[in-house]
Amino acid sequence: MRGIVYTGSDVEVTDQLTIGDPGPKEVRVAIGAAGVCHSDLSVINGTIPWKAPSVLGHEGAGVVEAVGSEVRSVKPGDHVVIATLASCGTCRACATGHPTWCVKTLGNVSTPFTYKGEPASNFAATSVFAESTIVQEVQAVKISKEVPMTSACLIGCGVLTGVGSVLNRAKVRAGETSAVFGVGGVGLNVIQGLRLAGASRIIAVDTLASKEDLARQFGATHFVDASQTDAVAAIREIVPPGPAQVTGALGWTGGVNWSFDCVGHPAVLRNALDVLDWGGNALAIGIPPQGTEVSVDVNALAYVDRGLLGCRYGSSRPHHDIPLMVELYLSGRLMLDELVTEQKPLEGFREIVEDMEAGKLARGVLTF
Ligand SMILES: NC(=O)c1ccc[n+]([C@@H]2O[C@H](COP(=O)([O-])OP(=O)(O)OC[C@H]3O[C@@H](n4cnc5c(N)ncnc54)[C@H](O)[C@@H]3O)[C@@H](O)[C@H]2O)c1
Ligand SMILES: [Zn+2]
Ligand SMILES: [Zn+2]
Repeated sequence: MRGIVYTGSDVEVTDQLTIGDPGPKEVRVAIGAAGVCHSDLSVINGTIPWKAPSVLGHEGAGVVEAVGSEVRSVKPGDHVVIATLASCGTCRACATGHPTWCVKTLGNVSTPFTYKGEPASNFAATSVFAESTIVQEVQAVKISKEVPMTSACLIGCGVLTGVGSVLNRAKVRAGETSAVFGVGGVGLNVIQGLRLAGASRIIAVDTLASKEDLARQFGATHFVDASQTDAVAAIREIVPPGPAQVTGALGWTGGVNWSFDCVGHPAVLRNALDVLDWGGNALAIGIPPQGTEVSVDVNALAYVDRGLLGCRYGSSRPHHDIPLMVELYLSGRLMLDELVTEQKPLEGFREIVEDMEAGKLARGVLTF
């Protein structure tokens, strides 16, 4: 079987993979398409430590090939989006509707593959850069066959993460103001989530001027090129203090209600905090290297109810949110096709990575 394997220092496009049959509660899915998320690149460059060999890819959709004896929710032939959360379904986190807090969903690695005859592990419990993968039943969410695989696959990470951060974690209300740092696959979905929520100002920030058109297409009302200008100063100009707001001992007022770091760099997260209005909250979505810290004036938070919130996988509940994304797409309110700016077979993975790093893509998608 063909796939893309992380070898510890690099990746290899290989035909030396095998996969077995699903266990009683597992599902084997023939992958139709897979998006390349920055987190896959972060494994290769060491930002996200992962064991090797492992099969990469965690944003995918496909067709169910085989199901275990106890699987009831999907059957062979069903189209599914694969969620990365192999949640247990019975712990307190799962029972209260927070599968992203389920301890079974992080670091629970299994080895459904062999690579050159040796066991090879999965990545993010998914491994969709392979012709087939095995996931838990809870991760295979049935969708309408009307959604093309190349669009459906993006729901599996970028869409759930971005739109979910706005709707589930921030719960942005109509009329609120926002700034989004990083206009990649995740940031574009934050932007369209903000549009869906009715945010009044959606200020997109990127270090690549080429991202402006995409940002505006997805709903940004303003664009700041952070390679040319101080992003904090530029945002403060767009959302100045209201007439009744005073500066006082705490310095500057004005700013946005919500900011989103979709880059994963401490300086960006600090900027995201520095553009908040009183009562505003910054969401940390981007993933920096392990141990990364950010410094903040505690009183800038404590005096005026500012906050910093982490957000994993859009705080999503896949069996609720994936069908919702499909419904919004089919009714013309969620852009998925427009996210697919490049499609290549597995062998084109390196080109997608290069184009992603050059800022040419919304998302690059691998097809099978
Ligand atoms: N929290 C989660 O659950 C979750 C899920 C998916 C991805 N992620 C993380 O989100 C981040 C974004 O992923 P992606 O797939 O959208 O990446 P991407 O490569 O598609 O996009 C990143 C964007 O950030 C821009 N950028 C880089 N430095 C910048 C800076 N200093 N200021 C402003 N913009 C800058 C790039 O030009 C690019 O447009 C990554 O760190 C990824 O690992 C987190
Ligand atoms: Zn991802
Ligand atoms: Zn659980």
